[in-house]
Amino acid sequence: MTYLVTGGAGFIGGNFVHHMLREHPNDTIICLDALTYAGNLETLEPAAKNPNFRFVKGDITGRPAVDALFAETKPDVVVNFAAESHVDRSIDNPGIFLQTNVIGTQVLMDASRKYGIKRFHQVSTDEVYGDLPLDRPDLLFTETTPIHTSSPYSASKAAADLLAAAYFRTYKLPVTISRCSNNYGPYHFPEKLIPLMIANALNDKPLPVYGKGENVRDWLYVEDHCRAIDLILRNGTAGEVYNIGGHNEMRNIDIVKLILKELGKPETLITYVTDRAGHDLRYAINPGKVHRELGWLPETKFADGIKKTIRWYLDNRGWWENILSGEYQQYYEKMYGGR
Ligand code: NAD
Ligand code: DAU
Repeated sequence: MTYLVTGGAGFIGGNFVHHMLREHPNDTIICLDALTYAGNLETLEPAAKNPNFRFVKGDITGRPAVDALFAETKPDVVVNFAAESHVDRSIDNPGIFLQTNVIGTQVLMDASRKYGIKRFHQVSTDEVYGDLPLDRPDLLFTETTPIHTSSPYSASKAAADLLAAAYFRTYKLPVTISRCSNNYGPYHFPEKLIPLMIANALNDKPLPVYGKGENVRDWLYVEDHCRAIDLILRNGTAGEVYNIGGHNEMRNIDIVKLILKELGKPETLITYVTDRAGHDLRYAINPGKVHRELGWLPETKFADGIKKTIRWYLDNRGWWENILSGEYQQYYEKMYGGR
């Protein structure tokens, strides 16, 4: 089988490439990635010498190049991770989110129709369901929870999901969609909560917590997400949506304090800053369907996963220090300076 994995130089896509090469050594993986600020070839370095792996630099919104790649490589399966993925950036500049997340998905699905691929998998997010109240722990997102988005990012992901469902119904494109909760683990770009807090703590810089830090996210170790997608590709049903989550709800402030404790750094580094506009209160996934139908369960407990993750950032300082030394500085100043 030949898999076209888009966005494989990013956090989850990179982990997925490594997962697939390890678990399915006879399959071929082609990674298409535009190498935006979030894409990093160092993430794919462990795969570079594998004869079953090929990297192609390219933009999923570029129709002629995407068509040419499909014509040349004839993928059996497409897994679309490529996206603008950071909520704060979407609030600052929504346009690129619509371009990549919506139009890019359409371009890939058009090529998938034209070249008769066996499965198009859209990697989506629990953010398409909006948020849940903090005082109703009984409420969880299921696959039938109405779409109700808050940020330009989540709206663009929801638009892509609806388009994918339309391509399934109208053109019979064999689409599956997964909606996952917050991932953490190796190769996570240090603009996101967990890697940002680890990097700042290691550099003795203030840890910027939005609002009161009481917002809740449902954290899943990235390898568990990759395993779930792999199962959906093999045993999932075209036209279906699968929610993926770890049953691991935590308040942001508790995560930040845990990171400081693990690193032996003082809580005085915590700085409460102006809240994110439209900040979703709580995400919580009911992963009952993917468990019942495909036998998936998360394997890494948060207590272990966060230790492994912190260890990875300690052992791979070069990976994230390279990022911090580049244009990221300007981003950080824009987002956090004077907040
Ligand atoms: P990321 O920002 O780390 O990586 C995105 C990758 O896509 C980068 O390598 C980037 O270069 C590439 N890319 C961006 N625009 C592109 C374009 N136009 N053409 C080709 N490549 C392009 O993102 P991530 O956190 O790994 O998320 C991957 C996917 O998973 C996204 O679709 C996101 O919505 C979804 N998701 C993420 C999480 C999470 O917690 N990070 C949870 C659920 C779902
Ligand atoms: O739920 C899945 C989503 O999880 C994915 O679809 C997104 O691509 C991914 O970025 C993530 O979105 P969040 O907005 O939940 O993740 P982020 O790491 O940006 O923020 C997590 C929480 O931490 C959120 O409540 C905001 C807060 N936060 C974040 C940053 C960057 C802070 O308090 N301070 C910060 O500096």
